[in-house]
Amino acid sequence: MNNSFHRGPFPATRLRRLRQSVWSRSLVQEHSLSSNDLIWPLFILPGQNSSEPVDSLPGVTRYSVDLLESQVAQAIELGIPAIALFPVTPSELKTDDGRESRNSDNLICSATRSIRERFGDDIGIVCDVALDPYTTHGQDGLLVNGEIANDVTLDALCQQAVVQADAGASVIAPSDMMDGRIGAIRGALDAAGHTNVVLMSYAAKYASAFYGPFRDAVGSKDSLGGGDKKTYQMQPSATDEAMHEVALDLAEGADIVMVKPGMPYLDIVRRIKAEFQVPTAVYQVSGEYAMLHAAAQNGWLDLSACMFESLIAFKRAGADMILTYFALEAAKQLASD
Ligand code: PBG
Repeated sequence: MNNSFHRGPFPATRLRRLRQSVWSRSLVQEHSLSSNDLIWPLFILPGQNSSEPVDSLPGVTRYSVDLLESQVAQAIELGIPAIALFPVTPSELKTDDGRESRNSDNLICSATRSIRERFGDDIGIVCDVALDPYTTHGQDGLLVNGEIANDVTLDALCQQAVVQADAGASVIAPSDMMDGRIGAIRGALDAAGHTNVVLMSYAAKYASAFYGPFRDAVGSKDSLGGGDKKTYQMQPSATDEAMHEVALDLAEGADIVMVKPGMPYLDIVRRIKAEFQVPTAVYQVSGEYAMLHAAAQNGWLDLSACMFESLIAFKRAGADMILTYFALEAAKQLASD
């Protein structure tokens, strides 16, 4: 190129200068990912010595509590701060009112007790509060005259939260999207002496088609049948409403707010962090994980590279923590770097 009409070399500003070497890229990277950012969702099976892969979530295995413990030990070893437990409820224990959710000896409570007994406070245990794993209809709330009844559901959720906290949950994570549940659950936990149990609210949870493989994993897909959750989870077209949800949940006592799903909702993560500056979680949900795996299995994507690219996108958008089925794999690869 003939630069004779420029003063000095062209161009003076070259952004590629700092992209030349690993060391200079490292210095200007802005965002980073560590195992400390990750929360690992785990599916629990009843019984003993039992494990089952989840077909629609390659690399994800459901474990009975005894086998789960070695998984948890690995997570601690790799510096993953918390796990999130999801029980697979046998169909004979499912009822219209999901009463198994309030049984203090149910699967999630007994798993929580044994993990807490074995590992103490070395790892945070996040327990999901919602009725869908326990109801014959697969909805997160109680049905009255064919409708999800908000206020009676709150009582059920409060009882569920208290049995989980009694069992040793460090974090109660309501994923049901009933109105007023954060305040109600905070009150119930405090009244039961659990003032130090953290509340992580699924504050901006969308009625998403990306939850499909999760519903396979916990066995709620058949229960839900052709039903959907649009009368309580948010519609994908809304943004301001997510801010309203977060503001309410914070006012009611949420310690951490969550956006779910993740990658299609990075704008929501960004806006929440900018407006509220509070601890913000994002859930890279089952469908997002399955998509990446499916493409990789076809040889269309490099799984490891896409995994890290998707995780750093959450950090860049403003998330402080990421719930992801990639947690263990990402932590392993980070440790070997
Ligand atoms: C249940 C719950 C769901 C997920 C977490 N908790 C599914 C749903 O709302 O139907 C989805 C997680 C995922 O897809 O990975 N309340």
